[in-house]
Amino acid sequence: MLEEGEHTREAAAAQAKRAREERVTSEPLIAQKGPFEVDVEAGQDYFWCRCGRSQRQPFCDGSHKGTGLAPLKFHAEVSETLYFCGCKHSHSPPCCDGTHNQLND
Ligand code: FES
Repeated sequence: MLEEGEHTREAAAAQAKRAREERVTSEPLIAQKGPFEVDVEAGQDYFWCRCGRSQRQPFCDGSHKGTGLAPLKFHAEVSETLYFCGCKHSHSPPCCDGTHNQLND
């Protein structure tokens, strides 16, 4: 039989576990610690993977389901070479802004 203090510790542990699981599912994974170079075509739409789980980096393959994250649509106005963020922490998504240089290993 559990003592009153043990109930409280168990409840706190369960709550902490739930919080950890929620955090895990809502934080992006680092697909690559640097940008992906992509030649985009004028008039095309691209769906940048925000969760980091896609196997088609830097674009979405539907792997974000259940994470609470969704891809970011990018419409190319002109044909050009862009550097899509691979670390998923850029402050100007979907493109790399150098933030990957500040991430810990
Ligand atoms: S790859 Fe994410 S900021 Fe550079």
